[in-house]
Amino acid sequence: MARLQGKRAIITGAANGIGRGMALRFAREGAAVGVLDLKEEGCAAVVEEIEREGGKAVTLPADLQYPAQIEAAVQRFVDKIGPPNVLVNNAAIMIPGMVHETSVEDLDRIIAVNMRGAFLMSARVVPYMMEQRQGSIIHMASITGIAGAPGTAAYSMTKGALAALARAMAVDYAPYGIRVNAVSPGTIDSPMLRAWVESQSDPAATRREFEEAYPLGRIGTIEEVVNVFLFLASDEASFVTGANYVVDGGITVNIPQPQD
Ligand SMILES: NC(=O)c1ccc[n+]([C@@H]2O[C@H](COP(=O)([O-])OP(=O)(O)OC[C@H]3O[C@@H](n4cnc5c(N)ncnc54)[C@H](O)[C@@H]3O)[C@@H](O)[C@H]2O)c1
Repeated sequence: MARLQGKRAIITGAANGIGRGMALRFAREGAAVGVLDLKEEGCAAVVEEIEREGGKAVTLPADLQYPAQIEAAVQRFVDKIGPPNVLVNNAAIMIPGMVHETSVEDLDRIIAVNMRGAFLMSARVVPYMMEQRQGSIIHMASITGIAGAPGTAAYSMTKGALAALARAMAVDYAPYGIRVNAVSPGTIDSPMLRAWVESQSDPAATRREFEEAYPLGRIGTIEEVVNVFLFLASDEASFVTGANYVVDGGITVNIPQPQD
């Protein structure tokens, strides 16, 4: 039995990486999927892949920085698929830097995509869920919203905010049967991460350092993160709301001891 039968899911940032993995898996589990991304060709490629496997999907090209594009994307999903009952706010950008190094322009952009984009997507989708008296919204946070990671001030701020938003929304919308959760992954072996590792002076050493930092001795896979989203989107998680699922191989609970 498919675990997402009857689900109509919008996934943002679904042209690449973790969002793409989620779109493919959700469709395999029976969901009709809205593939939202600013990369129009990437959206089309994911939809094609889903349709080739016999699934149902629609492209939702949109830049989350623009409220009018968010509104148009949600409307397109409603017209083509029906009222959404799952929303995954996965899209994000990462602009590195400490507070004093971050320009006002970069700060505004990262807030507009990561925080305001998720907020406005939720605002547009929630009324459909309230009408259906059911829904699951999942915000993609990060362990940088839980523990300090050097040189990621603005990004970390937005990720911490998404976990807070999940809690606030969980309380507001529980009376309507809408569950809202966050997921906070550690380092995941995504194309974005691989590209960054390759750009370092000694990629093999950088990768090894990452892996050694994790108590499980490795970084996570896209599939391991998608598994948690799949659970939260499904009715298996019917009593789970306001949670922040940490998917990080134990790194945030590890207190390294000095070696003798
Ligand atoms: N990869 C990791 O190690 C890791 C760890 C923790 C959390 N995360 C989070 O997981 C999510 C996905 O990460 P990923 O590694 O797959 O990254 P990615 O860059 O491969 O994917 C992000 C997607 O979001 C899209 N996007 C960016 N700005 C957008 C905008 N303005 N409007 C619409 N779409 C936009 C991009 O086009 C891209 O397809 C992000 O929220 C990221 O912060 C990733």
